[in-house]
Amino acid sequence: MAYVRPLLQPLLILFLSFSLSDGYFTGNSSDLRRLSASDSLCAQLIEPNGYSCTEHSVETKDGYILALQRVSSGSGDLRVQRGHPVLLQHGLFMGGDAWFLDSTEQSLGFILADQGFDVWVANVRGTRWSHGHVSLLETEKEFWEWSWQELALYDLAEMLHYIKTATGSKVFMVGHSQGTIMSLAALTQPDIVEMVEAAALLCPISYLDHVTAPLVLRMVAMHLDQMVLALGLHQLNFRSDVLINLVESLCDGHVDCSDFLASITGPNCCYNKTRLNYFLEYEPHPSSVKNLRHLFQMIRKGTFSQYDYGILKNLLKYGQLKPPAFDLSNIPKSLPLWMGYGGTDELADLTDVQHTLDELPSKPELLYLENYGHIDFLLSVKANRDVYDHMIRFFRSLEKSTSSY
Ligand SMILES: *[C@@H]1O[C@H](CO)[C@@H](O)[C@H](O)[C@H]1NC(C)=O
Ligand SMILES: *[C@@H]1O[C@H](CO)[C@@H](O)[C@H](O)[C@H]1NC(C)=O
Repeated sequence: MAYVRPLLQPLLILFLSFSLSDGYFTGNSSDLRRLSASDSLCAQLIEPNGYSCTEHSVETKDGYILALQRVSSGSGDLRVQRGHPVLLQHGLFMGGDAWFLDSTEQSLGFILADQGFDVWVANVRGTRWSHGHVSLLETEKEFWEWSWQELALYDLAEMLHYIKTATGSKVFMVGHSQGTIMSLAALTQPDIVEMVEAAALLCPISYLDHVTAPLVLRMVAMHLDQMVLALGLHQLNFRSDVLINLVESLCDGHVDCSDFLASITGPNCCYNKTRLNYFLEYEPHPSSVKNLRHLFQMIRKGTFSQYDYGILKNLLKYGQLKPPAFDLSNIPKSLPLWMGYGGTDELADLTDVQHTLDELPSKPELLYLENYGHIDFLLSVKANRDVYDHMIRFFRSLEKSTSSY
């Protein structure tokens, strides 16, 4: 029996490390794709808090089926007309759940519903709540052949169209992080911006070349995107053991990842750290490796452009050597904009935010919070008073000026 021990030990370590990562990231990628009604965002997170919520699905031009939830305050009188529609657009590795993760007094989704807004919750392709594709399976490489460019021009455009048709009203938009990249790209397009009444951007990003988050810079330097492609992966799922191991090896001896969120976003002052395991039941959602490559291109080159395929394929795709830029000066001066940004945010860096502001034709209303980081704008326990009150005042001032017709 002496030969058993050397065999057993590695097996035990393997088993232990599997159950360890299971404890952190509950579920696996096929768990994330369950489609039963009881697993909808409405049923899991919104209705249990006493709010009315209906599930909608939207098909994009390129065949993805997205989930959209419509939320209103449970105490609302149905005979009273619903308020102005607001679309909440989540960020990278997040889904529509991101707006509902704290208490009803703390989370923007609940707060807007309580304030009488007609709240619509976006979920982009590839996230847990969206419903796949008309013909492609998520196990196919082609399913993951997109970046934030398609999320802006197809997903966001289609969801806005759906809401405008359902409500007969232009839409207030709120984006966080990648949701602001999508929003700013989409708002440069005349056929999309005409559906939008105003936009509020949390941690606004168009340029990314001043990112300082240490683990992100290390991922860029080590070409994590190419490493993952070399493994034959096209879906980027940070719940998978392969990705967790890769990231751990990038941290090891190079970056202090003991506060993992801080290593990828910068310090955050005010989210509820005792709820971290609860947040991890929902986050992170999958994205595509191509999306990561597109974001890395922005960090490396300092551009806000379409995906760069390399000179030859660019010529074929775009008819030019370089990918066309999204031109912020095309966003109409008449579109009301509001932005909230923070002093410790290492993804939406102050220099990059200023670059965005310099290129916009209009002067957005600004809220700068020196001690706030990237996650705080979503999850700070006092974002209600620090951030959302200002944003809601901005929306209300527009309701007044448009309610006279
Ligand atoms: C993932 O979850 C599904 C459904 O619960 C299960 O059938 C499958 O065996 C799981 N896969 C792994 C690798 O744990
Ligand atoms: C933080 O989360 C815990 C657990 O959910 C909760 O009991 C506590 O009230 C929260 N703290 C704040 C300040 O919201």
